[in-house]
Formats: sequence, C-alpha cells, structure tokens
Amino acid sequence: MKLYIFYFSPTGGTKHVSDIFCSVWDCEKAFVNLGDLDSDISLAGEDACVIAVPSFGGRVPQFLIPKFRHIRGNGAKAFLIAVYGNRAYEDTLAELNDTAESAGLICCGAGAVVARHSILPKYGAGRPDDSDIQELKHFSGQCKDYFHTETNGSGLTTLPGNRPYRPYATLPITPSAGKACTGCGLCAKKCPVNAIPSDNLRKCDKNACISCMQCVSLCPSHVRRVNAAILKAADLKLKKACSERKSNEFFLPRT
Ligand SMILES: Cc1cc2nc3c(=O)[nH]c(=O)nc-3n(C[C@H](O)[C@H](O)[C@H](O)COP(=O)(O)O)c2cc1C
Repeated sequence: MKLYIFYFSPTGGTKHVSDIFCSVWDCEKAFVNLGDLDSDISLAGEDACVIAVPSFGGRVPQFLIPKFRHIRGNGAKAFLIAVYGNRAYEDTLAELNDTAESAGLICCGAGAVVARHSILPKYGAGRPDDSDIQELKHFSGQCKDYFHTETNGSGLTTLPGNRPYRPYATLPITPSAGKACTGCGLCAKKCPVNAIPSDNLRKCDKNACISCMQCVSLCPSHVRRVNAAILKAADLKLKKACSERKSNEFFLPRT
C-alpha cells in the first residue's frame, strides 16, 4: 500500500501538521501539493490518503475544490485534516468530507488541528505545541489501526458542520510590496492563483487573490506585506473569537 498526502499549505502550518500525522505511518509515501494538481492521480483500493487543508473562513479554500476532479479514489481510505488558526473551523471538515467522497474516497477519520493564524500570527502562536503533537500522533495511530483492521469499514457517519455550508466570504486582504522589492519574482512564480503579475511584482490582482499569505511568507526580502491598518482592523474583528486557546478535535468511525 501507499500513503498519499494531498495538502495545501501556503504558510507551512498545514504541511507541518500533516508531516506529524504521517510520521506514525511506516510505508511508502507520496506527497502531492493539491494547489499544483493538474493531472489525474489514481489510487488503488488498498491505498490510503491524508487530505490536509487550512480552514479559510470556516470552509475549504474554494480554488481547491476543482482539483479533486483529478483524484480517482477507487474506494481508498481517506483521513481528513482541517488546520485552523485558533478561531473556528466550522464547515471545513464537512465540506472536505463531501468533496473527498465525490472523488471516490471513503473518509475514515478526521481531525481539526490548531496552528498559527497565517494572517494574524499572534493567534495560535506556538501551535501545534508538544501536547498537540502528542494528541495528533495518538489520533494518527488510531487511524492506522482502523486502516489495517477494518477492511470492510464504511467510514465516518457524522462530522460537525452545516449543509448548505456557510457562505464563503473572501477577505479584502491583499498583500503588496513596496519600493524595497528586489524583483526576484518568487511570489509570482509560486502564487497558487496567479494573482501577482510577473511584469508588476509589487501589485496583486484583488479579484484573484485568496489572501493565503504565501507571498508574504516566502518573500526572501520580507518586503511583501498587508497594509498595517487593514491588519489592525482584522485583529479588532477577530480578537474576541481567537484569544482563548482552542482544542484540537478528532473523529473516528464507530466500530
Ligand atoms: C484567508 C484566510 C482565512 C482564514 N480563516 C480562518 C478561519 O475561518 N478560522 C480559523 O481559525 N483560522 C483561519 N485562518 C487561519 C488558517 O486556517 C491557519 O493559519 C492555517 O494554519 C494556515 O495554514 P498554512 O500555514 O498551511 O498556510 C485563515 C487564514 C487565511 C489566510
């Protein structure tokens, strides 16, 4: 069997969480950046996969949904991970579950795990910490046991979340660079939605940008950023919901 890891991780938190989950699995692994997926991948029924995405506004980042058309699940077991920035993950796991099922996967475990908030990094700072890592590894071990023992298991029956899902709200948070931009072009090359024109790197297409903060995170000169007043306004809005420590949540099928 092979363990596929489908992930989208613009600022590294989701990838870190999926790496911790995978560290418990001693088997062949194939890492696939969902954001770059543009050709078909066929899983065998005896394979397993992890699908790890950040929660954006309590939903799956919408540009990822069509990417699932490239996955032929063929009844392979899937373990879902929604990584969130200490506010809430709302409908992310429900939507991820439905999307994975429509790709022919059987969802057999799901976790919502806290990591640093990629827009306001003071929230969820230091997460996942030692206790999160312990919980995540324990959950991963349970998923692995389920995978090896429940050969006819039908998967998860319920997950938190509403259907229809909450409206997907885009944020007016578009990073840009000032005069100090060196013009290396890394941000434009890596932007998952091609929102940065390669001939005008300091700008950003507001309609295309998904505010994922990847360009801010990978700018080698640290000059790409969000306007301070906009960040302050976002902080004021999120402060109440983000300040208290949130828990990880894990879901397994009834056996
Ligand atoms: C556009 C956007 C929307 C977000 N929405 C939420 C949210 O609804 N709830 C939450 O707790 N965190 C939210 N976050 C924080 C991310 O889910 C969190 O920081 C995650 O770890 C980012 O993953 P990454 O490090 O792999 O990029 C949001 C981040 C971004 C960029």
